[in-house]
Amino acid sequence: MELRRSDRIESRLSSKEQLYVKKIRNGTVIDHIEPGHALDVLHILDIDGKRGQVVSVVMNVESKQHGRKDIVKIEDRELNPVEVDKIALIAPKATINIIREYEVASKKRVQLPQVIKGIIKCNNPSCVVNAREPVTPEFKVELTEPLRIRCHYCGRIMEKADVLKQF
Ligand code: CTP
Ligand code: ZN
Repeated sequence: MELRRSDRIESRLSSKEQLYVKKIRNGTVIDHIEPGHALDVLHILDIDGKRGQVVSVVMNVESKQHGRKDIVKIEDRELNPVEVDKIALIAPKATINIIREYEVASKKRVQLPQVIKGIIKCNNPSCVVNAREPVTPEFKVELTEPLRIRCHYCGRIMEKADVLKQF
């Protein structure tokens, strides 16, 4: 009997590589998310489970590369650059895999730019970016892990917890 394409792909996996969640046909797999941050990723992507999107979440599973990881699989959706930059802030080792017809069509590790413009606000209330006629917020990334960013205007340092409060 002729195997379906998806069965053939599945059969290439050895028993050691059994998946927690089955492969998806089309969509995006966000892999190697820092453990404990899968729900933050869902929040960034505005996924609340109430609008019918098919999403799988895997938490704290062993990673081949480094300790543990979370994974989020979203069917029939690709991410925009702002969403990818937001994920980079909280999960700097994440990879974004675009899946088309069961195959990984592209795999990119998220990458934080050295300067972040317009994605997050400075949490200093008297900073010029929070003035009545605000300028676009701008931060310099001083350290990715643990995250440390510096406001271009007032010098305020923000860390991951400060950033998460805004998502
Ligand atoms: N994946 C999926 N559905 C597919 C293809 C892949 O859900 N149709 C998932 C895999 O389970 C994995 C991720 O997408 O979590 C990346 O797939 P792949 O590149 O095949 O896995 P690895 O080689 O293990 O990836 P990496 O080297 O990035 O760890
Ligand atoms: Zn500031």
